[in-house]
Amino acid sequence: MLVSATEMLKKAVEGHYAVGQFNINNLEWTKSILQTAQENNSPVILGVSEGAGKYMTGYKTVSAMVSAMIEELGITVPVALHLDHGSYEGCYKCVKAGFSSIMFDGSHFPIEENVEKTTELVHVAHNLGLSIEAEVGSIGGEEDGVVGAGEIADPEECKKIADLGVDFLAAGIGNIHGKYPENWKGLDFDALAKIKELVGDMPLVLHGGTGIPEDMIKKAISLGVAKINVNTECQLYFQEATRKYIEEGKDLQGKGYDPRKLLAPGAEAIKVIVKEKMELFGSIGKA
Ligand code: 13P
Repeated sequence: MLVSATEMLKKAVEGHYAVGQFNINNLEWTKSILQTAQENNSPVILGVSEGAGKYMTGYKTVSAMVSAMIEELGITVPVALHLDHGSYEGCYKCVKAGFSSIMFDGSHFPIEENVEKTTELVHVAHNLGLSIEAEVGSIGGEEDGVVGAGEIADPEECKKIADLGVDFLAAGIGNIHGKYPENWKGLDFDALAKIKELVGDMPLVLHGGTGIPEDMIKKAISLGVAKINVNTECQLYFQEATRKYIEEGKDLQGKGYDPRKLLAPGAEAIKVIVKEKMELFGSIGKA
């Protein structure tokens, strides 16, 4: 069932767990994540970066694929189709294409401009029943061309953006897209606690979910994080399983070159990591 992410994240805050956003890249990714959510009776958010949207030929293709797959696979758990780190123009394109949720990443604009554009997009999204995420501070590292310096979010600015009526808020608290460096200082829980104090029950979003140790994930959830984004870890699992298949020469045996066989180990590996994350986040059985 394609739904906005508002209700599922409200429930997550009340139930002290988080819903995973898993980014999709193609049909295999989408199918593996949807099937894992259904098998585990978990709500799920499919994240689409602007780069991945382009790769899949455009948001209309993505939206049509996800809707059709939900129907043909008999997916009954709540699924949100969400634009990840959207530009102003990207948000409008996804609204038109039938996404159920958007993220407007105005974190690189001066706060006044972020406020102005977010306000406008909140109205557009809510008029059509979509949920909307905004960002304050920035997520370090790089994802599909979106580069962030990793500044810690200012709690007052978080409050300002939260008050515009966004449904959930991504606040930079030392999290980074991609793999964490050896000398990573960890999440800034003092900043998170201050943000939580000011924004109350607003669901908070933790980007850069790949490689954050379990104890930090649990602590972040206890401090109001209700949505955790994972992208790189699925890619690494896919890559490792595909490498193994080829290194074992399986692509050279029989019809092992058939793309449905060649991509199958990677697709299965994605299911494994998605289930592991759902267990850690506590969303299993919460659909
Ligand atoms: P990772 O690639 O580090 O898991 O981050 C995903 C993310 O935050 C998507 O916005």
